[in-house]
Amino acid sequence: MELLPLVCLCLLSCSGETSAAGDGVKVVVKEDDDAVLPCSLSNKEDITRKLFDWKKDGQKEVFMYDSGIHHNNGLSGQHQQFIDRVSHFQDQLMNGNASIKIHNTKMADSGNYSCDFPRLQPRQTFNIELVVDQVLRDRTGEKIPGAAPEPYIKTLDETKDWRLLQCEAHGDPLPTVEWKDSDNNTLHAEKPQISDRGGRSYITVKTTVTKTDNYSCVATQETISHQIAAVTAVRLTGAAPEPGEILF
Ligand SMILES: *[C@@H]1O[C@H](CO)[C@@H](O)[C@H](O)[C@H]1NC(C)=O
Ligand SMILES: *[C@@H]1O[C@H](CO)[C@@H](O)[C@H](O)[C@H]1NC(C)=O
Ligand SMILES: *[C@@H]1O[C@H](CO)[C@@H](O)[C@H](O)[C@H]1NC(C)=O
Repeated sequence: MELLPLVCLCLLSCSGETSAAGDGVKVVVKEDDDAVLPCSLSNKEDITRKLFDWKKDGQKEVFMYDSGIHHNNGLSGQHQQFIDRVSHFQDQLMNGNASIKIHNTKMADSGNYSCDFPRLQPRQTFNIELVVDQVLRDRTGEKIPGAAPEPYIKTLDETKDWRLLQCEAHGDPLPTVEWKDSDNNTLHAEKPQISDRGGRSYITVKTTVTKTDNYSCVATQETISHQIAAVTAVRLTGAAPEPGEILF
């Protein structure tokens, strides 16, 4: 009649949350931030002389610690995605705390991690989900298919008091386009026009500016968190000078 308590124990730990610190937890961080993945033995047993092993999505070797030997002091076999990016908390080991920190998180780090103590009796495994939220930024360097290149700004018409600017952008999905002044205020613009040329869609947005300033045209693709801007300097001789600006 040893079986019943065991089954209950498994039901408890498999349903997550309350079983042990770390299990079933979801950690959400912003891209480029560090993430601490929690994993602690509930009995706080000293694990300095024990083995624990972190894996991602059941296969990638994230971090292994074996009685003082680990991936940051010579142990081989760590997946290259995690080399030099993962650390453990040495001073916490005596409290049964096998948590790790992943530095400078990327989208690719999102997934399900397991923290395993394969040699403990009974064996203990904790599951932690990591979600890395993307931030909007220029992802040109990441070579994402369809990412919008820098928008193209053109002056359509001008007098000494105003200038009619046009911004053209493309990408797949088609970006949204906004005009902004140097204080990051969105300018009133005409309704975007969409046209097709050479099998590609372009979006153009016009605005009329009446002040000397630097104006940017910002193209945004929310779905891939990509944002890229072009800037044009406008100097209107007829308009009142900006405060602090010296006109010659
Ligand atoms: C384990 O150590 C980490 C890092 O110091 C800490 O954030 C976490 O709260 C600790 N967990 C427990 C259960 O003490
Ligand atoms: C992680 O596990 C959860 C729950 O089992 C699942 O819904 C989710 O899709 C998994 N995430 C990844 C990236 O595999
Ligand atoms: C516009 O940009 C130039 C070059 O970056 C800078 O020197 C100038 O101060 C800016 N002018 C305004 C009004 O922001």
